[in-house]
Amino acid sequence: MNRALRIHGYGGAEVVQLDQVLVPPAAPSEVVVRVRAAGVNPLDWKIRDGLMRDAFPLALPAALGIELAGEVSTIGAGVTAFSPGDRVMGPLPGLGAYADHVAVAASMLTRTPAELDDVRAAAMPVASLTAWQALFDAGELQRGQTVLIHGAAGGVGSFAVQFARRAGARVVCTAQSVNAGYLHALGAHEVIDYRTQSFWTSTGPVDLVIDLVGGATLEHSWQVLGERGRIVSTAAPEITANTPSGKRGVWFQMRPDAAKLGELAALAARGDLSVQVSEIADLAEAGAVIERSKTGHGPGKAIITLT
Ligand SMILES: NC(=O)c1ccc[n+]([C@@H]2O[C@H](COP(=O)([O-])OP(=O)(O)OC[C@H]3O[C@@H](n4cnc5c(N)ncnc54)[C@H](OP(=O)(O)O)[C@@H]3O)[C@@H](O)[C@H]2O)c1
Repeated sequence: MNRALRIHGYGGAEVVQLDQVLVPPAAPSEVVVRVRAAGVNPLDWKIRDGLMRDAFPLALPAALGIELAGEVSTIGAGVTAFSPGDRVMGPLPGLGAYADHVAVAASMLTRTPAELDDVRAAAMPVASLTAWQALFDAGELQRGQTVLIHGAAGGVGSFAVQFARRAGARVVCTAQSVNAGYLHALGAHEVIDYRTQSFWTSTGPVDLVIDLVGGATLEHSWQVLGERGRIVSTAAPEITANTPSGKRGVWFQMRPDAAKLGELAALAARGDLSVQVSEIADLAEAGAVIERSKTGHGPGKAIITLT
């Protein structure tokens, strides 16, 4: 049996359905993963709604889901890094993680440490790699600098707060006040409630803004940048065209990196990195969870399990 959560057109929750599809074969250099858990991302509803249809045209019906954890069931020709039964985690090069069996290039996958369960493993690939790369590759964050993280209580932000604090930065966050205690526990020095405060009048100058929100939040952020500061946005591709003259704005897209994910998973396995899961639901509920994620969710990541 291979259940797959697929969209048959673009639209609201009604276009998502659970289908029976063939178990994929493992092509050369691929493995088939028996998926046990898959992380929910804002990209799920953005794709479902058709917001990405020009950038990423899909052949419909198309399965949703971009990251997974589970165990290898079969290996394709030429695969030496994994054997059937190995526990693995990783982002997908495309879509389709919400399925019982998924074929994926072996190079995308990392072994899941024994101490990390599949639910927490599935919460890590996209969010932890995005946070790390946005802070240190695109953002070049240095010890002693100040970083402002917008959307800090979400999937990416929860990792970014921890990485920035460990790197010796001063960490300022925007989030709802209900999440302030959570963010301080992760390492935030200051939490600004975006619902009641104007961050652009209550903080600055900062060396780096990690924008996980876009829109008006991004627009106001230019005001808080220090002289050599920059904004790295994962939420607003238009930052490239809209960066004011004399300012530095960077659109950032996560790059799969199995080796780095292995390092980050090891941190979590040792207890040196908290992996926050806001909600666990089974595949039959995934469409509803994706719909709810559009309007917000508890701190951390929502996870779909496939038993
Ligand atoms: N470019 C890439 O490679 C890449 C990779 C991963 C993610 N992303 C994008 O990055 C963004 C964040 O992803 P995510 O997975 O962290 O999403 P998420 O888990 O939904 O987190 C977003 C967070 O932003 C908060 N928020 C909403 N409005 C806000 C505002 N005005 N000010 C401050 N915080 C606000 C939300 O809190 P409440 O709603 O609870 O208040 C939520 O905690 C999304 O746009 C996603 O598509 C891009």
